[in-house]
Amino acid sequence: MKHLYIHFPFCESRCDYCDFFSRAGGLEQAPAYVEAVLAEIEAEVPDSTGLETVYLGGGTPTLLGGELLSEVMAVVLGRCGPGAEITVEANPSTVSRELAESLAEAGVNRVSLGAQSFNPALRRNLGRRGPVESIGDAIAAFRAAGFENIGLDLMFGIPGQDRAALVKDLENALALGPAHVSCYELTVKEGSSFQQRWRRELDVAARAGREFYEVVIDTLEGAGFRWYETSNFARPGFECRHNLAYWRGEDFIGLGAGAWSSVGARRWHNVEDLGLYLKHASCGDWRALREYEELPREVRIAESLMLGLRCDVGVARCNVAGAIDVEQEKLLLRNGFLLNEGGRICLTRQGRFVANEVCARLLRD
Ligand SMILES: C[S@@+](CC[C@H](N)C(=O)[O-])C[C@H]1O[C@@H](n2cnc3c(N)ncnc32)[C@H](O)[C@@H]1O
Ligand code: SF4
Repeated sequence: MKHLYIHFPFCESRCDYCDFFSRAGGLEQAPAYVEAVLAEIEAEVPDSTGLETVYLGGGTPTLLGGELLSEVMAVVLGRCGPGAEITVEANPSTVSRELAESLAEAGVNRVSLGAQSFNPALRRNLGRRGPVESIGDAIAAFRAAGFENIGLDLMFGIPGQDRAALVKDLENALALGPAHVSCYELTVKEGSSFQQRWRRELDVAARAGREFYEVVIDTLEGAGFRWYETSNFARPGFECRHNLAYWRGEDFIGLGAGAWSSVGARRWHNVEDLGLYLKHASCGDWRALREYEELPREVRIAESLMLGLRCDVGVARCNVAGAIDVEQEKLLLRNGFLLNEGGRICLTRQGRFVANEVCARLLRD
């Protein structure tokens, strides 16, 4: 096992668009949660594991503060190999100089900071709390603590966003000098109150989706970033090794409430319920809080193909040959949507803009 994810389902408040498992407040339960997570690590991740990547995600892990996160890190570090990448997701409004310093001291060496937008009106539309200035302040705090590997998360397709506002957001992000930028198109849960409130604006944004995506790619590539995955851009050498492991279909273990794991053909996830997680954890009853499924081989191969094609380097054809419709593949190669480079198939630039369509055609029925 080389990759470990730990979920922290606490946030200051819930952003209206977000569908990740977390709750607003409830921090009085954070010490018990950390205790439970530490017990789960002891149970699931042997001392000698030699982890290559660890990702503390959420929710908002940084809301727990330096002391609790350092407790987790002390146990995690003992299971890491040399040079492990250890990321913490941070919400800017929760970051202080002290927190940044204690994370650095605890061994964290990568930060993924949720900016989303620098535009106050768009932030209001998202229901995103916290002042815009906190983004720059958080980066300054992490830099002062010695962090070099700092990523910023942005979104496009926000209700009310036009091309000029997107360009400005990208400029503001680049001015802060991140090593990595994730820029996700806003996805909205069907039937959510967010969708009902912003139906008209979301329709406008969806129609501009392709144009906005091109703006994102051209701007970030123009600034020297590598477009190494559908929504992810990095300065050379700063690609997120943990997320690359997901896209390469490698095994990973996820701990904490709601976290997913994938080992061989087996997938499972912990219950998305804080109370139940704590209850089962207190008696070491880990199996009772999980739901397992076994994926058939064909499904895993099709999944490897879809995940692999998200990355610029694509996927080794010999590993996914069983999932490919060969006639469609020939057509996609001939029409310039797909490339075969030394036995690896990958999407061309043109193909990457219509990746879902290409994958749908390429996959055998
Ligand atoms: C789970 S969040 C955790 C980060 C942190 N809580 C924050 O909000 O700053 C990780 C990232 O997912 C992205 N995200 C969350 N909800 C999204 C949505 N509905 N559509 C697209 N991206 C989303 C955001 O860019 C966010 O920074
Ligand atoms: S976007 Fe981040 S801060 Fe907002 S609710 Fe989701 S996990 Fe919490």
